[in-house]
Amino acid sequence: MKHSQHRATLGGKLSAVLVAAGSSVGLGNIWRFPYVAGDNGGGAFLVIYILCVLLLGLPLMVAEFSVGRATHRNAVGAYRALDRRWSFLGYNGVVAAFLILGFYFVVSGWTAEYMVHSLTGELARYSTAEEYKSIFDNFIRNPWRPVLYTSLFVLATHFVIALGVQKGIERSAKVLMPLLFVILIALSIHSLLMPHGGDGLRFFFRPDFSKVTPSTVLVALGQAFFSLSIGIGTMVTYASYFKPDTNLRHTALNVTILDTLVAVLAGVVIFPAVFSVGIAPESGPSLVFITLPSIFNGMPWSMVWSSVFFLLLVVAALTSTISLHEVITAYVHEEWHLSRRAAAWATTAATAVLAAAASLSLGVLGRWTVAGMNLFDSLDYLTANILLPAGGFFTCVFVGWRLDRRILRAQITNDGTLRFRIYGLFIFLLRYVCPAVLLLIFLDNLGVF
Ligand code: PHE
Repeated sequence: MKHSQHRATLGGKLSAVLVAAGSSVGLGNIWRFPYVAGDNGGGAFLVIYILCVLLLGLPLMVAEFSVGRATHRNAVGAYRALDRRWSFLGYNGVVAAFLILGFYFVVSGWTAEYMVHSLTGELARYSTAEEYKSIFDNFIRNPWRPVLYTSLFVLATHFVIALGVQKGIERSAKVLMPLLFVILIALSIHSLLMPHGGDGLRFFFRPDFSKVTPSTVLVALGQAFFSLSIGIGTMVTYASYFKPDTNLRHTALNVTILDTLVAVLAGVVIFPAVFSVGIAPESGPSLVFITLPSIFNGMPWSMVWSSVFFLLLVVAALTSTISLHEVITAYVHEEWHLSRRAAAWATTAATAVLAAAASLSLGVLGRWTVAGMNLFDSLDYLTANILLPAGGFFTCVFVGWRLDRRILRAQITNDGTLRFRIYGLFIFLLRYVCPAVLLLIFLDNLGVF
């Protein structure tokens, strides 16, 4: 395989793990996972989720890493280099990254606004959950405030991308990921010490298999893919910067463990807090933006805890928006032959316009609908229910059936220097189990069952 010259590579072994974990750990882990788990049987969901991560997510991540490092190209260029007819898979990733950024930047902007308002004490001024609900509703409908914070978030992402792969992406991950873990552990300890915190833990960990239905498996799988950032070319793009001696299996295993750990710890932070004040756990956005601020408010040092919590969300979101931006920037840079600087600006401008429109679709532009949904909801729906499962499905089919086995083996074993005892199992999962389960999730999402 011909390798492109002058391409950036990541430094040490740890960098590959930190950068990929930065992409995986995001809003999907901290607000979505705890709520989805709580709603789908707590501990029972956790067991199914972990099985999905290990049996489907992990092999797919190794597959994406192999495609990226075998070609050293952006998502589109990588699939094209391996087989021209499969470049659509790269385009699916670039389009999905663009559309995800459209709503992800908006929610990230909210976390930034809530962090600032926690720091200034503004958020501590209200008392009842109703008041927090009305400030949240007013805030997201406001025509300019969320757009302002979203723009700030877009610029922060741009700034890191503009610094390049080593000085931007790698360095930021080395600072932000350890920071994220320190905050998460401090918040978990704080939460565990709350009165009635045990009830929250029971709610989160008690395996309630009565709530498990076939669709629980599909929910768990969708959550696992979004959370691990697979199926859209992010891991292909990042692995294209990995060094030849990076162990792809160990990297994927470490990223998967870290991502799952963060999701579980987020539940440990959120549920004891929710139960300590006797509030029923609610749906995603309201849990983090309405219920939690009202809980923080009743605690000593409320400003500190709520600032730290929203800082955690900002950090988690930022390392994910960086990875989504990089998928598009690398594509525009390499395929359209623009300088990296120009490619980064083009990506920033286009995603900022989409994100602003998505933000306004929750208020003044609410009457513009796509398939009966406002723009914000339709971006979320289209990516999570169609583009990501489709990307995952075709990735397993491509790597399992189409890709030259020698290329795959050379990547996984680093040209024969590493042993891979469960290679047979890996191929079996990629060829049969992943596509079959993904086909089911896809059909279920389209309402076939
Ligand atoms: N994994 C990120 C999260 O959990 C979101 C993401 C999805 C990032 C796809 C990149 C690609 O929030």
